[in-house]
Amino acid sequence: MKQHPEIRENFELEALNTLHVPARARFYMEVESASQLLWALDWAASGQQDTLILGGGSNLVFAGDFRGLVIRMAIRGRRWERVVDHRATLVLGAGENWHDAVLYAARAGYRGIENLALIPGTAGAAPVQNIGAYGVELCDCLESVTALDRTTGELVTLDNGECRFAYRDSLFKHTPGRFVITEIRLGLSRNKPLALGYRDLQEYLVDMPESELAPLDVAEAVMAIRRRKLPDPAIIPNAGSFFKNPVVDLAQFEALGAQHPDIVGYRQEHGVKLAAAWLIDQSGWKGFRNARVGVHNRQALVLINHSGGSGRDILALAEEIRDSVEKKFGVILEMEPGIVAGPESA
Ligand code: EPU
Repeated sequence: MKQHPEIRENFELEALNTLHVPARARFYMEVESASQLLWALDWAASGQQDTLILGGGSNLVFAGDFRGLVIRMAIRGRRWERVVDHRATLVLGAGENWHDAVLYAARAGYRGIENLALIPGTAGAAPVQNIGAYGVELCDCLESVTALDRTTGELVTLDNGECRFAYRDSLFKHTPGRFVITEIRLGLSRNKPLALGYRDLQEYLVDMPESELAPLDVAEAVMAIRRRKLPDPAIIPNAGSFFKNPVVDLAQFEALGAQHPDIVGYRQEHGVKLAAAWLIDQSGWKGFRNARVGVHNRQALVLINHSGGSGRDILALAEEIRDSVEKKFGVILEMEPGIVAGPESA
């Protein structure tokens, strides 16, 4: 491995974000180890360059060019640790492809992340938004992350509690730029119960007796369900769910229910989580498209770059959707992907 990463200038990022919007990085490096990461960060600091850490580029929107250093995390490696009885810890380098890791664990017979099959992105990005699907969230099995704490320059280990996980949320979202995740540890088991409660999954697996199901069967079911509903970013550029499912209090849910009897909501510990897809769908956006961008015709929560759209085209559409949902339902949708380089700096 080279001592320090190659420095590229004026580097095009279109192929490195799943919305495929054009954006240039003034400087760009790929780092394959924690020491290369430190070198890249020192290089940026000495030249007073802002930095952006990039994983799979599946949860961000470039609203313009990035005028500093983009560091793409390419730290690889998968290994098992503490294999005891039915349990084992799977350690993943931050640059490992998430879906490949899911299949790797499921093929080895280990349970815990099979419901998270086909989520685009890297292992290192997964804790940031606490990826979740089909009744499972990453925080259900994440043991710890190793991260570079940029305030001290030291590698630290943060355990599950310290990561302050919540729905699509974590410590890392609240301390932007402070931690760069280099490795994650997942606690998996060969005999814990499979999570089959999500309706789509139950319907898909209805003919399969639970006792005969292996984690790979569940991963394959999730893949089939996702392929039916969600566009493959390799073919149709998108960034997954564009908004979080909003949580409202019970009184607001009941008031909404009186006006819209078929509203979709799920009771939570505090309040009711509404299906943002339903709100957007009911506001008439499903399948909408203009010349460049649009809304997926099978899942209204997914915005699509149909034909040469820019990040600003996507954000303008998101804004229109948010306004119309607010007007119709009085509910404010929060965007899920991060926005890089706002209009004022682009
Ligand atoms: N619905 C509509 N219209 C649509 C799509 C869905 O009315 O166009 C309704 C459905 O009837 C359903 C409800 O909305 O009752 C929920 O839909 P779905 O089960 O597809 O899940 P979701 O809440 O829209 C969440 C995650 C997805 C994840 C699925 C499955 C968020 C923001 N999104 O979507 O995550 O795959 O559940 O667990 O929580 C992602 O984060 O990128 C992502 C795809």
